[in-house]
Order: sequence, then C-alpha cells, then structure tokens
Amino acid sequence: MSILQCMDCARQYPITEVIYTCTDCGGLLDLVHDLDHMRGRITRETFDQRLGSLDSPYFSGVWRYKELIYPDVDEALIVTRPEGNTNLYRLPKLAQWAGVDRLYFKHEGENPTGSFKDRGMTGGVTQARVLGMKRVACASTGNTSASLAAYAAFAGLEGVVFFQNTQIAAGKLAQAIAYGATAIRIDADFDKNLELVREVSNKLGIYVLNSVNPFRLEGQKSIMFEAIQQLRWQVPDWIVVPGGNLGNSSAFGKGLVELHTLGLIDRLPRLAIIQAEGASPLYQAYQRGLDRLEPMKANTIATAIKIGNPVNYPKAVRALHATDGVVEQVSDQEIMDAKALIDATGVGCEPASACSLAGVRKLVDQGVIRQDEVVVGILTGHVLKDPEVIIDYHNNDLENITAHYPNRLYAAEASIEQLSRILTPENESLFA
Ligand code: F0G
Repeated sequence: MSILQCMDCARQYPITEVIYTCTDCGGLLDLVHDLDHMRGRITRETFDQRLGSLDSPYFSGVWRYKELIYPDVDEALIVTRPEGNTNLYRLPKLAQWAGVDRLYFKHEGENPTGSFKDRGMTGGVTQARVLGMKRVACASTGNTSASLAAYAAFAGLEGVVFFQNTQIAAGKLAQAIAYGATAIRIDADFDKNLELVREVSNKLGIYVLNSVNPFRLEGQKSIMFEAIQQLRWQVPDWIVVPGGNLGNSSAFGKGLVELHTLGLIDRLPRLAIIQAEGASPLYQAYQRGLDRLEPMKANTIATAIKIGNPVNYPKAVRALHATDGVVEQVSDQEIMDAKALIDATGVGCEPASACSLAGVRKLVDQGVIRQDEVVVGILTGHVLKDPEVIIDYHNNDLENITAHYPNRLYAAEASIEQLSRILTPENESLFA
C-alpha cells in the first residue's frame, strides 16, 4: 500500500486523507510506494509489453507505469485522455548549435491539452475522484489551468482556475474558458494566487491540484520513465528542464531515484534546471550553495515560469543532490532566440520550453556539459500556446529583444511580379 510521507519529519498519512503538507512541520508530502515489494517483480519487460496497448489504462504514457505512479488505485476511477506517449526527437541542427553530438527533445507539448501538465493532472484528478471531491482548483500561469479545466470536464467535476491579471498566453486562457472551468482573473501574481487558492480551497472544501499536490508529481515522473524507455533503457548523461514552480524537476528526481532503486537503470542522469533570469530564485540559491530560498518578484517573457516563490523548492534541492544536478539561468533574449530555432525545425514550443535549448548551449559553453555527452531536453509546452509572442518576435516588436532569427512576414498585391520578387531566394539558412 502506498502512503503519504512528510519529506522533512517522515510523518505518515493515509492516502485517503485530503492533505498537501505535513500538519506537524509544514513539510511537503511524497507519495511513497512499496519499492521493496516491487523489486524483481517489476522489470523493464513489464513496461515494454504494454507499449502500443489500445486499452485503458495502459494506453496512457503515464499509466503504462501504473505500479510506480499509483499502484493500488481502482482502475475504474482513473481519468485519462490518454496522455503521454510523446515523441522524443533527435535534432542534429539544434545539437550542432548547442555544441553537443547527440541532443534529443522530448515534446511534452504533444499531450492532450498541449503541455506536460496533463501527466500530472491525470494523477491529480484521479485522486480527486478517489477522495470523492466535487470541485478541483489551481492557481496557474496558464498551462495547469488549461489541463485542469479539461480533465475536470472530462471527469464530470467542476474546475476552478485562478489567473494573474496580466501576461497570460492567449491559448491557455482560451482553453480554460472553452473547457468550462470557473476562470477568475485576479489582480495578483502567480505566487499570491497560489496562496489564495490554497486558503479558499481549504475553506470551501475544494481539492487543490497545483504541484504541491503529491499525486500530480507522480504522474509527471512518467516523463523520465518514457524518455528512458524510448532510449531502450539507456540512460542519457543529462536531463535539461525549465524550472518554474519546480514540480517537474522534483518529480524527475523522485522518478529517477525509483528507477535506480528498482534496478531498471544502472545509473542516474544529471539534472540541469534552467530558469529565466527574471524568475530565478532557485538559481540564486544555487549560487549560494542552496542555503535557502529567497523569494523574488518575477518577470520574464516566458510567462509560464514567471514564478518567484516556487513551492517545490525543497524537493528540487533533493533532486539536485540525488542527481549531482546543476542550475543555470538564461535571459529573455536567449529564450526567444532558442525558441525561434526550435520552431524553425518544425517541432516548435512555447517560450518557457526553450530554456532547455538555451540552457544546453550555455552549459556547453561553460564546459559543464561535454560535447560527447547525451542530452535530453524537455519541451514543456506547444507552440500554439503563446501565438502573440511569436508574431511580435518575428516582427521585431518585442521590447528589449532583438530577433536574431526572424522569419519575415511578407505582404504582396495579387501580382505575379510582386510574388516572383519575394520568392527569389536571398535569405540564408537560420542554422548557417
Ligand atoms: N514550462 C511550461 C510550459 C510551464 O507551463 C511550466 C509551469 C513550466 C515549464 C515550469 O514547470 O513549475 O514544474 O517547474 N507552469 C505552471 C502553470 C506553473 O501554472 O501552468 P514547473
């Protein structure tokens, strides 16, 4: 039987309790599984046999690993779209630009609502049903709310989402409204909204589905399981991931340690967490030897990660220690240029996701990542999430950012002469 356990004082709580943090010490909770019982019984073959399954729940790229996600759950209660089964792209042009021989990107924007959040949401909304909750809520920079709105509707629950008042990407806002959640714009930033949603949900008996919820993180671990399975269980040297509220980084650390404990992998990859310069409290702490988190007022063009007080900081620190990880920061300029290059491969992603590529290049420049090391970057969200920023970048309309890789939008009259002039090639390749 799995159990909820405080990461600081180890106090345990049954999984039937509606609880997010330890009532004794305030520590974050982990969903802990009986790995001893699984050792030897759960093998790579267990998961390989389920590849290509057409049936619920194993057709999901999360529930394929059910024993490591939520082993005891009643399958009838699982809410799955199904999510996961995202592609792992090998992109040589980007590898060359970043300075490594082998660079893969796992595209989590290929999930049902266009971001990695669906992997956590299937776990969280399933637990809402286990607990018999009728309403689920989150504060969000946009993707969590899109995912929550969709999964709540799919499960027949009521969704409630809190947004910051400004700087929400159009695609994300549209999704939350379209899927029928109660969507509230609040005159506050993400960090304040997270406090508000926790307090109001506690008062009104609503289930909180931010990444402080341990069942969310269990689902998100599957990004690591799937990436490594796609590499035929060969462990890459580096996993590079954007960091905002640090749910993903925390989940990756936990999932990787579990794979290693079960003997499914023979070593751990190193984790590199990349933050935006204007929203880099983990990076600042890392510079000081991870002494403590000092919350900051966040600001970045990558609105998904505009977070100054990441709730999962302690778990991210644990993940960094377990994987000999590193933290780096990248500027908005670096983010947007990296995004333009990812987009131009035809793969595409939203701005926050491009931290991965910008981060790899920076870490290679610094000699932290070696050229011959195998790197897997995570693209966290779909290119269509934030369309406005794309048009503005390529039109060179972004404040304080120069488009180094613009794809100009032409206008022409309906004349063959004008069209011919435009179509006479003169532009050099972006990657030259
Ligand atoms: N990338 C994207 C596209 C995101 O939406 C987020 C987080 C992150 C990266 C950072 O992930 O929080 O696990 O470190 N978005 C949250 C939201 C906060 O509300 O959608 P993290």
